[in-house]
Amino acid sequence: MGQGSITRRYRFCAAHRLHTDHLSVEENRVVFGKCNNPNGHGHNYVVLVTIGCPSTVQSRQAVGIDELDRIATERIVNRFDHHDLNQDPEFATQTTTGENLVLLIWDLLVPQIPDGQLKKVAVIETRDNYFEYMGAAPFAARS
Ligand code: NI
Repeated sequence: MGQGSITRRYRFCAAHRLHTDHLSVEENRVVFGKCNNPNGHGHNYVVLVTIGCPSTVQSRQAVGIDELDRIATERIVNRFDHHDLNQDPEFATQTTTGENLVLLIWDLLVPQIPDGQLKKVAVIETRDNYFEYMGAAPFAARS
């Protein structure tokens, strides 16, 4: 049986700087370009969260749009909006790339949503940069 999905859009503004202590100052500059600017810079991030339609998800606990909005606001928007991503504890040991951010957002949302209902998380960082993640495997929890 087919299953529809719903995608909700959330926004937050945050600062970051792409930099890793594993590389030299010069290597950081080469790898990350102007995103390595010591003063940091900001983005108006857009987060797209796709869930299976509550009416077709095989779970009595399926979340609806209102519940998804509450979860995403509490877990994502309130955590990152007007913050410096480099100061977030989850980014203490990894760079604040879009790839890492979309994985973190998935990890923050997935425990709040019944198994299998979260289908995709996407992050639009700039006009031309778009990152997405659909989980390690269907119904498999990442550790
Ligand atoms: Ni950036």
